[in-house]
Amino acid sequence: MPILSLPTPALILLIAPSGAGKSTFAARHFSPTEIISSDRCRAFISDDENNQQVTQAAFGLLHHWTRLRLAQPRLTVIDATNVQYSARQPLLRLARAAQVPAVALVLDVSLATCLSRNRQRPQRFVAEEIIRQQYHEFTSALLHLSREGYAQIRRLKEDTLDSIQILREQITREQITDEQAVREALETRKN
Ligand SMILES: Nc1ncnc2c1ncn2[C@@H]1O[C@H](COP(=O)(O)OP(=O)(O)OP(=O)(O)O)[C@@H](O)[C@H]1O
Ligand SMILES: [Mg+2]
Repeated sequence: MPILSLPTPALILLIAPSGAGKSTFAARHFSPTEIISSDRCRAFISDDENNQQVTQAAFGLLHHWTRLRLAQPRLTVIDATNVQYSARQPLLRLARAAQVPAVALVLDVSLATCLSRNRQRPQRFVAEEIIRQQYHEFTSALLHLSREGYAQIRRLKEDTLDSIQILREQITREQITDEQAVREALETRKN
């Protein structure tokens, strides 16, 4: 069974287009209070998870909520597409300010699967053109992630998504205060 080891606390950015299965994956592996979802933020503000008119306010809430959790610091999972650098950058800044490692968790799901899951889901439907555009941004993001400053970039293949087990590696406060120490600790554990 494949195991994914994640530092804890950390800021985990799920990265995948709509329909890939981010919310499903998050609900399977993390507790509800650990997950901050952009769609839930839309709902908290407007009672409608699909309301695109409150995007700015929803992300304002998402960032505020993230900042408060990282100040503790607590493991925080961002359930949003995060395919655009403009979405990832403020989150990376929050992690850096809180001296918590940021992890890019890529759900490497094909466009065909995203489209087919989107068609089959009962609760909502995202326009296919939007998913195609997000997929285009997603493939371009994959080329740039290594230069954005994550402590780890983990890429989960579609066929391992259902079987993966997540192992939480506790990081001490002393390690958190030194980003370099966090990276070295993770490297040591890998070897
Ligand atoms: N591993 C999986 N195998 C089969 N179906 C899945 C899997 N993961 C998710 N699904 C189904 O695919 C659909 C989309 O999943 P989900 O809502 O989790 O995607 P999402 O990435 O959160 O999309 P969005 O960005 O639009 O919120 C749902 O109907 C879900 O039940
Ligand atoms: Mg979702």
